[in-house]
Amino acid sequence: MSQKISLSRYLVEQQRVHGHIPSELRLLLEVVARACKSISHAVNKGALGGVLGSADSENVQGEVQKKLDIIANEVLIEANEWGGHLAAMASEEMDSIYAVPNRYPQGEYLLLFDPLDGSSNIDVNVSIGTIFSVLKKPNDDPRKVEAVSEADFLQAGKQQVAAGYCVYGPQTTLVLTVGDGVAMFTLDREQGSFVLTQENVRIPEDTKEFAINMSNMRHWDAPVKRYIDECLQGKEGPRGKDFNMRWIASMVADVHRILTRGGVFMYPWDKREPDKPGKLRLMYEANPMSWLVEQAGGASTNGRQRILDIQPQKLHERVSVILGSKNEVERVTAYHQA
Ligand code: AHG
Ligand code: MN
Ligand code: MN
Ligand code: MN
Repeated sequence: MSQKISLSRYLVEQQRVHGHIPSELRLLLEVVARACKSISHAVNKGALGGVLGSADSENVQGEVQKKLDIIANEVLIEANEWGGHLAAMASEEMDSIYAVPNRYPQGEYLLLFDPLDGSSNIDVNVSIGTIFSVLKKPNDDPRKVEAVSEADFLQAGKQQVAAGYCVYGPQTTLVLTVGDGVAMFTLDREQGSFVLTQENVRIPEDTKEFAINMSNMRHWDAPVKRYIDECLQGKEGPRGKDFNMRWIASMVADVHRILTRGGVFMYPWDKREPDKPGKLRLMYEANPMSWLVEQAGGASTNGRQRILDIQPQKLHERVSVILGSKNEVERVTAYHQA
């Protein structure tokens, strides 16, 4: 790339040249990116910034919150609430939706986020990230402005108008889709701006790499066990090739690897919590990642259906996730039907 293209310019071109996004959405994405930049600075300071360790609280999912879970959540809210683009926000770290306060202008978008993904990696200096998803507030009757409610958020992933994540690793990289493929932007710390470093991201259809928490093997369902068993048999088994395993335990970092060089990522349902469909959250983890993966030519299912088709019943709904290289995801999904 001879000339550097900033995120701002990319978004302006998406609006003006390609007609993909209205200016309100463009400005909203600029604000999300700014918030990610500021989370990235906090992450980088680590122990020097006093941001490591746990807080004395639990979130609605019963997880002990880390200080950085709370800091990232606050940064995203403070950055986004006054801009006039949003009606409300929802987050892993908040029990219910956060309506934009009356003192600020109301917009037509809904923003969902996992403010800090990979919490267990914060204190050990391993890649973590922020995941976000943008929906439009449904407006049945344009003559009256109705108060925003949780029901407005309960839209299938295929309704998303923008989705992305920012990974805080050796580099800070923002990955975005507005429905026109996937683009990656690297944070230039001297300039303080995100610069386009890859466009038209494509996930290879085949792979020899899988990502799953193997310690849960004894709890998995038969189709997932069968798939991994066959991978582990390598060249001598039915797959006729050796597989490699990578597992970072930050969904952002695992998905980033898959967008970069292919692979399959799974967090399947397991027997430990039979009543929960899975561990990962549908609306602010699985949906944005599934759209990115599909936009890059990959696939994403819960073993039985396309994740983007699932009609959510509640904000913090969980889901089983199988995503990445198309042929592998189709294979695992077929094993569920067998
Ligand atoms: P979060 O830190 O936002 O709660 O999400 C953690 C998720 C995800 O990033 C990762 O894939 C998975 O949890 C790892 O979980 P385990 O280490 O419990 O298997
Ligand atoms: Mn969490
Ligand atoms: Mn997460
Ligand atoms: Mn989180």
